[in-house]
Amino acid sequence: MTELRPEPITARAMGRDLGRVDGREKVTGRAVYAAEHAAAATDPLHLALVTSRIARGRVTAIDARAALAHPGVVSVLDHTSAPRLAQTDNGELAILQDDVVQYRGQIVAVVLAESSESAREGAALVEVAYAEEPHEAELREDNATYRPDEVNAGMETDTEEGDVDAALAEADVVLEATYRTPYEHNNPMEPHALVAHWDPDAELLTLDDSTQGVFGVVSALAPMLGLEPAQIRVRAAYVGGGFGSKGEVHSPEMAAALAALSMPGRPVVLAVTRQQMFSLTGYRTATISHFRLGARADGTLLAIEHAVQEQTSKAREFAEQTASPTRMMYAAPHRRTSHRLARLDVAVPSWMRAPGEMPGMYAHEVAMDELAEACGIDPIVLRERNEPAIDPETGNPWNDRRLLECLRSGAERFGWADRPAEPRATLDGDWWVGTGVAAATYPAMRMPGNTARVRSLDGDRYEVAIGAVDIGTGARTVLTQIAADALAVETARIELLIADSTLPSASTAGGSSGTSSWGSAIAAAAQQFRADHGEDPDPGLHTLASPAANPHAETHALHSFGAVFAETRVNRWTGEVRMSRLYGLYSVGRVINPATARSQFLGALVMGLSAALHEESHRDPRFGHVVTQDLATYHVATHADVRGIEAEWLDEEDHLVTPMGSRGVGEIGIVGTAAAIANATYHATGVRVRELPLSPDHFVS
Ligand code: MOS
Repeated sequence: MTELRPEPITARAMGRDLGRVDGREKVTGRAVYAAEHAAAATDPLHLALVTSRIARGRVTAIDARAALAHPGVVSVLDHTSAPRLAQTDNGELAILQDDVVQYRGQIVAVVLAESSESAREGAALVEVAYAEEPHEAELREDNATYRPDEVNAGMETDTEEGDVDAALAEADVVLEATYRTPYEHNNPMEPHALVAHWDPDAELLTLDDSTQGVFGVVSALAPMLGLEPAQIRVRAAYVGGGFGSKGEVHSPEMAAALAALSMPGRPVVLAVTRQQMFSLTGYRTATISHFRLGARADGTLLAIEHAVQEQTSKAREFAEQTASPTRMMYAAPHRRTSHRLARLDVAVPSWMRAPGEMPGMYAHEVAMDELAEACGIDPIVLRERNEPAIDPETGNPWNDRRLLECLRSGAERFGWADRPAEPRATLDGDWWVGTGVAAATYPAMRMPGNTARVRSLDGDRYEVAIGAVDIGTGARTVLTQIAADALAVETARIELLIADSTLPSASTAGGSSGTSSWGSAIAAAAQQFRADHGEDPDPGLHTLASPAANPHAETHALHSFGAVFAETRVNRWTGEVRMSRLYGLYSVGRVINPATARSQFLGALVMGLSAALHEESHRDPRFGHVVTQDLATYHVATHADVRGIEAEWLDEEDHLVTPMGSRGVGEIGIVGTAAAIANATYHATGVRVRELPLSPDHFVS
């Protein structure tokens, strides 16, 4: 296997709307999703989870007699009977090993039965007795004082440059404000689900899982189960969305693996319930962002301070990198960022679309709107005055920072110039109308550990293989386009193999890095294949290759940018907020497939709108759990919420990031969107709201 720096690929298929290569399978219902593999399995057992009713303490007794007497129930596993793990360092995944309860909703037993109904009925019959201990489940400013060693993705916890306090003392204008975002839960259409099967003869555990990364599941589970990585095969042929919730491995996957190991030879199917997704599959922590901005009278920033408070779980540490975009977004000589956590007896937070950037940029971009008003200048002009020539965080040159172009051109396309300078200036019937803007950014990453294989087939066709996962983004389609261009053949000549851990290794679909990482590996393998076997190979020849680490990642600040414009209408009597227009203009490198990329942008804009107007999980600190455990009480945007919504992008290529000239499109659409909407509601009503969601009560007195 060779490692090389792939050359730029000439675009032929890239840039065109190739229809989804798996579209026919999906719309005809032939695409088999994780839990559906049970239908073809011989003698499957169904798994149901029994979860804790206390937030902290010990299980003193589990009485499974009634459950075991229930028709169809085959077995009940708890901490006294489940297979032992070889490693228990990951407190989220080390379930059923001891009597300790670390959060409400933790798995304390599992029921295996001949049908899903029997399993769920059996689970309801398991009697669990607890010795409850006092718990702490409320995030407050006075308890979020713990400093983690690092924050998500290995970033620094705190940064400091210059003298923020002195600069604030000298500033003409100081904006000091605190912004809050609520707990949010990912709700992909397909809940977490998998079929697990332990073949005792082959000593092989096979998981058909709904995951964002098949290799991530192998590497998380193998050492804990005491298996070699080659003894676990994970497939994820079709995934009905993840948004980050299927990125890190969560305890239901361990529950199914343990259950399968306890029942050699029998497939075990688990479909996590929608309610259980509110404690078992990650969520976005609530955040408190304390901002201090100091500027000259003309808006030029002297100091930026962003002190974040949020929470983690005692079961496993996860610290959202909420201040990370603040470190690179705007120029200012004096800067300080920090993250402090409350360590609580609660379920484990994790990834949710743009962890860090989403809550951080919400706060930063509302603060910038407030600063623009305090300085009496247009919000776009404020951003022009604070455009950094180089990356303020690293001092490196930008790859191709086109934020101002997004703002200016977006303003033109949106019709920004027509807006009244003063807030609360436009009443249309019963509706206050206003517009708002915010900037967006997201890092352009390529992950290590990607390898692709190219094999020549007969008839000038090629099999291109990499164990990447298409979670509904269109990766299968886009990688087909990349492979075709990398080999300089038609897309119809590409047989793409993905979503199986027996294929060459691939990083997890996360951090908007999938297409960049997997596509670069495909480019490397195609290039090496041509070098090895020429333009007219015999069938059956193959080459494996990996892309070398991107040298530009060391010398340049690699980011995408965008500008989001919103028009909102706020009812003068009820405070109801309606989105009338939402528009994003993005700079993301080459767009490989306009149709699938547009879906990513629109989907993320809707998710940002949903966060702005609706999404909020209510944690009851008395019991430690989230009480909004369904889609009736956890509101997500629906069709009626989405009116005029559009996304466009600049025509460009970025060969500092990938040989395709692309960066990534999955997450940037949610960044800044809630801020643009919040700023629009301020412009509409004159009421400045510093927390999400923008529920009606904020706008009526
Ligand atoms: Mo995405 S939150 O990086 O899976």
